[in-house]
Order: sequence, then structure tokens, then C-alpha cells
Amino acid sequence: MHKKPVIRRSFAVKEPLAHAKGIVFYHALPDNRAQRLANLEKPLMQLAIISAVGANGIIGIENRLPWRLPEDLQHFKRLTMGRPMLMGRKTFESLPGLLPGRRHLVISRNPDWQAVGAEVFPSLAAAIAACSTEESTFVIGGGEIYRQALPLADTLYLTEVNLQPAGDATFPEFDRAAWQEISREAHSSANGIEFAFVHYQRIQADS
Ligand SMILES: NC(=O)c1ccc[n+]([C@@H]2O[C@H](COP(=O)([O-])OP(=O)(O)OC[C@H]3O[C@@H](n4cnc5c(N)ncnc54)[C@H](OP(=O)(O)O)[C@@H]3O)[C@@H](O)[C@H]2O)c1
Repeated sequence: MHKKPVIRRSFAVKEPLAHAKGIVFYHALPDNRAQRLANLEKPLMQLAIISAVGANGIIGIENRLPWRLPEDLQHFKRLTMGRPMLMGRKTFESLPGLLPGRRHLVISRNPDWQAVGAEVFPSLAAAIAACSTEESTFVIGGGEIYRQALPLADTLYLTEVNLQPAGDATFPEFDRAAWQEISREAHSSANGIEFAFVHYQRIQADS
């Protein structure tokens, strides 16, 4: 029997309680990301990740998508319209331009980096904090940012693409048992690619 998904309302890491509860053990993470995440009080807004992922986990190659899937671009537009979008600097630079109707919050370690229409932040935590009054926020990639955002996300919108393309950017491995599949829509694109729109919600352990 599936556990009921509960919307995550607070984000407090208490070692070793976190581990005992099956919450990701941030102190085991590399670099000082563990400390940064531990210090982050997750706001009330829903944090969603949206990504199109090959059957081999590949999401990108040479800073572009590894497939042509117009149906997925429409799906992305439908879900993200009106919502803030958090992204890494490389993903921002891979976009064809600013996407109308959405804030672009870009994460970069380079304090001099800027681009017209982009809000720049030195960390994921700072970008999330800038969306705290929003109802929901989308993390739109790429691989580096998905890795850091996954432990914080409530919801995953994955387009599971039935291809095994070559690539250099991947979606992080994740524990499927920690997520409940809410819906799955299988499709075949006009150019013959099989894919499915899948919505997962994090299963929150009762506290
Ligand atoms: N299939 C999909 O749904 C999808 C979605 C999005 C992107 N993509 C693909 O993914 C690829 C890009 O992904 P990627 O992993 O190479 O790059 P990325 O995650 O888009 O961006 C990486 C950059 O983000 C900044 N960054 C990362 N962590 C940071 C931190 N903790 N603090 C401050 N800045 C940080 C750094 O920018 P600076 O170097 O400026 O410091 C870093 O170089 C492309 O091929 C793209 O097409 C695919």
C-alpha cells in the first residue's frame, strides 16, 4: 500500500534524527553543500523539478537538448507559465532567449555574470529564498542544479524519453521508493519518439 504523499512544509535537518527518519543525510554530502542545505529553512512554497530524461539518465549534450521533442516544450510551457524558474547559468545560456511570462532566476558562482532579464544568485538557497512568497517554483535544470535541488523538491515532473542518447549532462539518480507516481501519460511524438509525462510527489514520512 502506498503511503499518502504529504506536502513538505518545513525543512529542518537534525542529525542523527534525519537519518533515522529516512530523510536524506545531508552531512554525508560532499563539500559545504551539506552545511548550506542544513541552514536553509525551506519556505512554504512548493518546489517542483521539471526535466526531460532519457532512459539512460541523459538530459543534455554540449549545452543543448539531445532530442527534438516539440510536445515536451509545449508541456514545459504549460506547467511553468507564470511561475518562477530556477536554473544554472549553463541552462540559461542554452535557452533560445527569455521565455515569456516567467521569472528567470539564474545561479552562478561568478559575481560578474549578468544577462538582461535574468536575476542572478550566488547559490540555490539564495534563489529559493527569493521565491518564498510564490505558491510554487520550478527548478528547470541542468544536471548540476537538479543534483542540488532534488533533496529539497516536493514534486517531480519528468518527461521520461524512451531514447538512450549520448550526452554529458545527467539527471541525478534518485530513490524511487521515496516518491509516489501520481500520474503517467504515455505519448508518441510526431517524429516517432516514445515518451511519457510523469508526475511524482515526495512521500513524506510522518513525523
Ligand atoms: N532535458 C532537460 O530537461 C534539460 C533541462 C535543463 C538543461 N538541460 C541540459 O543540461 C545541460 C546543462 O546542465 P549542466 O549541469 O551542464 O549545467 P547547469 O546546471 O545548467 O549550470 C551549471 C552552472 O550553474 C552554476 N552553479 C551550479 N551550482 C552552483 C552553486 N552551488 N552555486 C553557485 N552557482 C552554481 C555554475 O555557474 P558558473 O559557471 O557561472 O559559476 C555552473 O557552471 C545542457 O546540456 C542543457 O541542455 C536539459
